[in-house]
Amino acid sequence: MSDSHPANSAHAIADGGMAVIVGASGGIGNALHSLIESDHRFQAVAALSRNSAIPLDLTDEASIEAAARATAERGIAVRLIIDATGILEGDGCVVEKTWRQLDAIALARAFAINAIGPALLMKHFLPLLPRSGKSVFATLSARVGSIGDNRLGGWYSYRASKAALNQLVHTAAIELRRTRPEAICVAMHPGTVATRLSSRFAKTGLEVQTAATAASRILQVIGTLEPAANGAFLDQRGRVIDW
Ligand SMILES: NC(=O)c1ccc[n+]([C@@H]2O[C@H](COP(=O)([O-])OP(=O)(O)OC[C@H]3O[C@@H](n4cnc5c(N)ncnc54)[C@H](OP(=O)(O)O)[C@@H]3O)[C@@H](O)[C@H]2O)c1
Repeated sequence: MSDSHPANSAHAIADGGMAVIVGASGGIGNALHSLIESDHRFQAVAALSRNSAIPLDLTDEASIEAAARATAERGIAVRLIIDATGILEGDGCVVEKTWRQLDAIALARAFAINAIGPALLMKHFLPLLPRSGKSVFATLSARVGSIGDNRLGGWYSYRASKAALNQLVHTAAIELRRTRPEAICVAMHPGTVATRLSSRFAKTGLEVQTAATAASRILQVIGTLEPAANGAFLDQRGRVIDW
């Protein structure tokens, strides 16, 4: 798959319509927003974050509900929602090297931001997807959330909260199919990307992408998704990742 035409493949979902980026203030979210804006294929692009005009905080369900309501009130079919939020460390979250560092409050914080917040996004935003035609809800997960792929251990709360996210996405995808057979709900690993989140961990030896490259690859995969992909856990090249 070529990486050279990022925006073009995302058009396959858009026939006008609105794109919504949640976490548009983040490294990957901001790059996704820029790419989708510059593409002009969507009739409207909404960039949501804790600092947007309608602030959305994942730990405040009322703010998620209000943002979804404001999005619906624009009266434009929502064809694409990308959740680019997430946390690895800081803001109460810890990157544990050993079980000795496990802390109930830090674990709960990681789950609140990486799993429960996105679950509430699905609760309030999936109903906005049109009942017919292609539409996509993609949430950024992480390969380290794969249980089958876990060979190194460590990062307990990040791994476990992303595994929980993957299960939530898969479960919502099954429900989504009943009313919106052409809609697609996926969890995506963006690859290792040079952002605030990864700055302390992106080691030499790993392929570290710029946020612009990651965004381009994500949009390219989204552009090619078929309904059969609903509920999948995919990497930035569209390959299925082991649960
Ligand atoms: N970078 C990588 O190498 C990598 C690898 C695998 C997976 N991922 C995943 O990709 C996603 C995006 O990561 P990134 O690298 O772009 O990180 P980032 O630059 O740190 O962006 C994180 C985003 O999450 C938002 N966020 C955090 N807590 C929030 C809350 N309580 N309510 C609302 N928004 C909140 C941040 O908002 P504020 O600006 O308000 O803080 C920011 O928009 C994450 O899910 C991450 O796990 C990244």
